[in-house]
Amino acid sequence: MSIDTRELNLIVQTLVEHHLIDDLCEPIKSGKEATVFRCSGHSDSSHRQLALKIYRDQEHRSFKNDALYREGSAIYRIGGGKTRAARALRAGTRFGKRVQEGTWSAHEWSTLELLYANGLRVPEPVYTTDGAILMELFACADGSVAPPLARARLSSDEAQALFAALCDDVERMLGLHLIHGDLSPYNILWNGESYCIIDFPQTIDPRFNRSARQLLERDIANVGRFCARFGTIEEPGVVAAEMWSRFQLGEVC
Ligand SMILES: Nc1ncnc2c1ncn2[C@@H]1O[C@H](COP(=O)(O)OP(=O)(O)OP(=O)(O)O)[C@@H](O)[C@H]1O
Ligand SMILES: [Mg+2]
Repeated sequence: MSIDTRELNLIVQTLVEHHLIDDLCEPIKSGKEATVFRCSGHSDSSHRQLALKIYRDQEHRSFKNDALYREGSAIYRIGGGKTRAARALRAGTRFGKRVQEGTWSAHEWSTLELLYANGLRVPEPVYTTDGAILMELFACADGSVAPPLARARLSSDEAQALFAALCDDVERMLGLHLIHGDLSPYNILWNGESYCIIDFPQTIDPRFNRSARQLLERDIANVGRFCARFGTIEEPGVVAAEMWSRFQLGEVC
């Protein structure tokens, strides 16, 4: 994926001027929706390294199944869904496309803020500007960037503990009215000792999305399938069903 160099330079300039980063280093990964770069932290910053996620522009974005995730998202509900922005978004007009630009990154930013403030294992959000998010870089003990969990080899005890901890996180998120919606061993980083959940542009509010239960089940099944390769874990389908009924009974908080 290519990022407009001028746009990238402007973002970097802003971050340097705000004494947040010293320099932009190598790209960590160029994904479907964004490119993530490693940055060295400014001497004034408490972070030695940071991750800068820059969203792909609207034209070249390929979010899978946009509509599924957009159902019930805040922007459509503002003003009872009757605002010009909400109408334009639904109609897909040019103005609507401009509104949509930035909504994915804004959504990821506000989700990160909420989850971090509530003590979930997510990168600390540091700054956001125009389709870019600067956050804590999740690293290994030697300072190298932590790889996705998908590459890890776990002991049976680790797999069991990790699955239990992740289900606990999923339930805490549900209590905050959030379902990740794309949880998988690729959106969880593992540094050999602990983990960090990333990539939140598609989170949904289970109160306003008819696919909520299905997305919750899929998130738990994805991590369950991975952990089950290394040891016996609780049945993911049962975990999800029980969690969903606790949510419906108002017992998740
Ligand atoms: N805070 C972070 N610390 C360390 N590495 C990170 C961080 N955020 C993202 N990464 C790395 O960048 C990759 C892409 O990030 P992310 O999943 O948020 O973007 P994406 O565009 O959705 O990518 P993909 O299409 O691969 O899911 C991650 O798989 C991870 O390797
Ligand atoms: Mg991802």
